[in-house]
Amino acid sequence: MTAAEPARATDPAVAAAPTAGRVVTCYSLFDAFMTRCGFTDLTDGMYEGDPDRPYEAAQARQAEALLDRAGVTRGSRLLDIGCGYGRVLRAARDRGAKGWGVTVSPEQVRRNAAAGLNVRLENYKHLGPEWDGQFDAVIANGSLEHFAQPEDAAAGRDDAIYRHLFSTVHRLLDPETAGARFVTTAIHFRRRPDPADLLRPPGAFRRDSEEFHFARVLSQGFGGWYPVRGQLERCAEGYFRLVDEEDGTEDYRLTSEACLAASRRRIHSARGVPIWLRAVPLMLRRPVQAARLYRCVFGSESWNWQFRGAPAPTVLLRQTWERVG
Ligand SMILES: C[S@@+](CC[C@H](N)C(=O)[O-])C[C@H]1O[C@@H](n2cnc3c(N)ncnc32)[C@H](O)[C@@H]1O
Repeated sequence: MTAAEPARATDPAVAAAPTAGRVVTCYSLFDAFMTRCGFTDLTDGMYEGDPDRPYEAAQARQAEALLDRAGVTRGSRLLDIGCGYGRVLRAARDRGAKGWGVTVSPEQVRRNAAAGLNVRLENYKHLGPEWDGQFDAVIANGSLEHFAQPEDAAAGRDDAIYRHLFSTVHRLLDPETAGARFVTTAIHFRRRPDPADLLRPPGAFRRDSEEFHFARVLSQGFGGWYPVRGQLERCAEGYFRLVDEEDGTEDYRLTSEACLAASRRRIHSARGVPIWLRAVPLMLRRPVQAARLYRCVFGSESWNWQFRGAPAPTVLLRQTWERVG
């Protein structure tokens, strides 16, 4: 491998792996509950030191900042990997850019289509050569946390998955676009847990332990795994270099606390009854994950636990990557 010619070899098993069912189910449940509580943003807002900034304003600010970092302007072609309900795509459209989104959630595809956004039901790992060179910028805002699962980490596959991610985004970007950017926001472990522990039932651990909370969030509720600081940079070698990094952990804490308080008020009140009733068919189809997600979010508050304390157990990093090679 030379500096001008990055390694293209990535593990073919990564590209062939099916989408994790619990990630898809988690977003079906989110769609049933969170969107009906008024939440269609699924990542951190940006408060910039102002904890009183309204939730919506913080979310809007984050979308604009990510687009700025990705260099998205009028006419840019943007791919949003894991686009959720399309907040970033809408902000890109408002700039006169052309946006495409991919998500593994059928419910999100339906809502985005109704909003006139160009969103496909695709796992980015399966994007074929027809996508190559089509974009000036790529954003993955809060989706990277789902790309590896605890089982992958236990099998030593997390590096291969992140390397495959960077190689995929590298080929999706137009080689003619000077300084093409890939912008990510991703939760990182402050200290990498033993993935084998996360595959055990959370009840095997003390209720206040990292293993308990991470098992609830990553193995049971949401489905995912986090990198540690420096891991993505190592896996990006030959494809991207890191040009900017920001710690958004406190922002994610503020976002998650606002979201938990408002959704708890809503679904635990009389106004929540229609939400529960409409969710019954889904909960009957997915009773185990529905119960696990509920316990994780509202019971042990394991999602919010991740950002509480000093230092918090996780770090949210907003990173900007520039294509090399
Ligand atoms: C936490 S949400 C973030 C959504 C959105 N970016 C936002 O800011 O609100 C994670 C998103 O990643 C998507 N996702 C997870 N794994 C994916 C994959 N392998 N390929 C494409 N999308 C994926 C989910 O469907 C969901 O839309």
